[in-house]
Amino acid sequence: MIRIKGLSHTYRIGKRGRIIEVPVLHEIDLHVARKEIVAVTGRSGSGKSTLLNLISGFIRPSAGEIEIDGCPVTRFSEGEWADFRLQKIGFIFQNYQLIPGMTVYENVELPMVLRKVEPKQRRRLAEEMLERVGLAEFAAFYGDELSGGMQQRVSVARSLVLRPPLILADEPTGSLDSENERALLDFILQLNRELQVTFLIVTHDRRVASIAGRRIHLQDGRLVGEGAAV
Ligand SMILES: Nc1ncnc2c1ncn2[C@@H]1O[C@H](COP(=O)(O)OP(=O)(O)O)[C@@H](O)[C@H]1O
Ligand SMILES: [Mg+2]
Repeated sequence: MIRIKGLSHTYRIGKRGRIIEVPVLHEIDLHVARKEIVAVTGRSGSGKSTLLNLISGFIRPSAGEIEIDGCPVTRFSEGEWADFRLQKIGFIFQNYQLIPGMTVYENVELPMVLRKVEPKQRRRLAEEMLERVGLAEFAAFYGDELSGGMQQRVSVARSLVLRPPLILADEPTGSLDSENERALLDFILQLNRELQVTFLIVTHDRRVASIAGRRIHLQDGRLVGEGAAV
């Protein structure tokens, strides 16, 4: 699902000749097979979010190649990336990023509107996904009327409604209490089993890492000790 070869990234900050280079990732090689759940651990500042942002195409690498689902995404134009992302990648964020002023239903429908899915189909898929995350009765509510755990589930439903084969998650349970964390982890496992979704999950949390089939560790921008989880 993901093939990364020789991936390095250096941020350049400053302007007008006073540029400071901050090297963050060094020659990362990583393969993630279809249907795998891989956890990425590492201290704060080790480069985890940078790695996810590179895989998402939100930033461009200084060197190296990334393939997703067989496509050489590092060579994509911005337009190609936008289409590809919508089709192939779902995101789960720590802060839920629901659109204010839109209902739960409208939030979940949004990716399908962007993809010009026809209205009947949109309704069917949105209802099915809301059912799956246990929020069918809340379709007409607004985000700020729901608890944090429920908002998180709306954002998960939204990122999954187009059935992307790959989900990238950055500290997905970072703002959830333990009950909602458990519910989200069970949901991730269910999607992985039933819909064969591949997950790459950045986390500090032992419980989150424990659902992964494999854990990889970033230390100062290098991958160390890649191996199978217990
Ligand atoms: N946009 C940026 N510009 C400059 N430096 C950045 C930027 N984003 C992150 N960094 C630096 O890159 C390093 C890795 O950051 P990050 O990928 O966010 O790590 P993590 O997610 O593991 O905490 C840190 O030293 C951070 O300060
Ligand atoms: Mg981070």
